[in-house]
Amino acid sequence: MNILGISAHYHDSAAALVIDGLPVCAVQEERLSRHKGDAVFPQLAIEWCLEHAGLEPDALDAVVFYERPMLKFDRILTCALRAFPHSWRAFPKAMKNSIGEKIWMRGIISSHLGVPGRKVLFTEHHQSHAAAAFFTAPTSGAAILTTDAVGEWATLSVGHGERNANGASAITLLREIRFPHSLGMLYSTFTAYLGFKVNEDEYKVMGLAGFGRPTMVDKVRQLIRRAPDGGFTLDLDYFEYHTTAKRSYSARFVELFGPPRNPYAPIDLENAEGDRFADCAASVQQVLEETLVEITRALRAETGLTDLCLGGGVALNGVANARILADSGFERVFVPPAPGDAGCALGAALYADRIHFGNPDREMPDHSFWGPSVDGNELARLAREDGHIVDQLDDSTLIDRIADDLMAGSIVGWMDGALEFGPRALGHRSILAAPHAMEMRDRLNREIKFREEFRPFAPVVSLEAAERYFELPPGGMRLTRFMSGVFPVRSVWRSRLQAVTHIDGTARVQALERDMAPRLYALLEAYGERSGMPVLLNTSFNLAGEPIVNRAVEGYSTFLRSGINVLVAGQTRVTKRASTKRREEVECLRSVAKSNAG
Ligand SMILES: [Fe+2]
Repeated sequence: MNILGISAHYHDSAAALVIDGLPVCAVQEERLSRHKGDAVFPQLAIEWCLEHAGLEPDALDAVVFYERPMLKFDRILTCALRAFPHSWRAFPKAMKNSIGEKIWMRGIISSHLGVPGRKVLFTEHHQSHAAAAFFTAPTSGAAILTTDAVGEWATLSVGHGERNANGASAITLLREIRFPHSLGMLYSTFTAYLGFKVNEDEYKVMGLAGFGRPTMVDKVRQLIRRAPDGGFTLDLDYFEYHTTAKRSYSARFVELFGPPRNPYAPIDLENAEGDRFADCAASVQQVLEETLVEITRALRAETGLTDLCLGGGVALNGVANARILADSGFERVFVPPAPGDAGCALGAALYADRIHFGNPDREMPDHSFWGPSVDGNELARLAREDGHIVDQLDDSTLIDRIADDLMAGSIVGWMDGALEFGPRALGHRSILAAPHAMEMRDRLNREIKFREEFRPFAPVVSLEAAERYFELPPGGMRLTRFMSGVFPVRSVWRSRLQAVTHIDGTARVQALERDMAPRLYALLEAYGERSGMPVLLNTSFNLAGEPIVNRAVEGYSTFLRSGINVLVAGQTRVTKRASTKRREEVECLRSVAKSNAG
């Protein structure tokens, strides 16, 4: 049975194809269209999936959209009417932003793909999140918590999933919290207040939190009231997102926390204003963690289960995930590689397969590499045309050369096999570097990522060595598989892991199993033989504001426009020709001279 899942029209559109119960491919539209967070109908992603699987659209048994458009329409209409006349100006914009083409989804999908309308199915948004979390996790039964900004009405749901010995499976969502009461919106409101982009920069708030002290926890607690049934409500006097598309926080919010940050002014952590913003981030982070711990503790007691699956965009908060593992009573916590809305494309397809059609459960591949493959020969051709230095090497020679490059302080663009599905670079589209010195972090920020200094870089370490360098609690190893947890770097190693240790002594570590990305694993081993530590800095292969690279040509373009020294795709290694290198050195010397003069 061939089932195509689609998520679209909010942010981060994607398509995923499930054939006979197993994922075959999945990709975010942004990786193909090259527009970050692309929310359009994912035509390119769908076309690639069908082409990759060798299917014509009429071979599809079902196309599943990741939420129910009419329920969403109902929510927006109801909120606008409740807020009338305050909302009358915002209503048309909200309709356009949030609904757009969605309510006509059956017809749109049908006409785009040429499939009959009866083959188009819909899942609820949080069912898609729950399915993406549960059906991809190696567990026979688990509690489920999905938390995001908003789907149709639900913003948080709790329940459980089962796989039975006879192959049948079930997902039961017991309760939900409804818009406008939303942990995702609470966090996003602070994201906006702190001058960052909503739905994109929430991880910057988490990074900034590490620099602050939670001095405003009591103030944040004024915004959220716990309910006796374990739920919560937000005090809506402090928010405006439910009545206007213009601003998410109200004048009362500003009275409580002070003036918002000007998004164009850099955050100076050396002055009181910068400290206030960092404290604000630390405070909302703490309240988010406490609320999630209370909800998951109650869920643990209610279900009696020891495994927990987390879905929804809030599950990208690795600090909160680690806290849930430590304090909820669950023994194992599973977060899929794409817990956000892109992952709903896969979740919707799996939900339809297992629940709607009642197909038997299948053992799922436990990785995120579902996208297009990179072609090393394409890189070689491009680089040769431009006169750069190209080596095509057998695997062991290439790995040795790259380990030597990393030891010599080179920054390496690393492309291998199929693209990751989800926001994390897990070893197939990564920028790699030595993790030891602070200078490397500064160099990456300055020459490649062009980003704020408070954002940490992550380490990748071989699975066997992970506990030597990082304090992983029982069950913590699972969260490191897809970089879903933040854990302390052991204090004795911090001075040798400066570039990947956050200000608060933690790291969002990826512990790599050999089978998951064998070539990166071999590189870690080779680097470990040389440096004594099988640990590398691993950051996503993209420049600020751009999606992660997909094809060789995008990696090559990024390589040319940044300070990446060595580029690898498959068995091709490229370094810049001497004149390019010299020009870079001159520019670097110029900028040093300029900053010294300043
Ligand atoms: Fe969502």
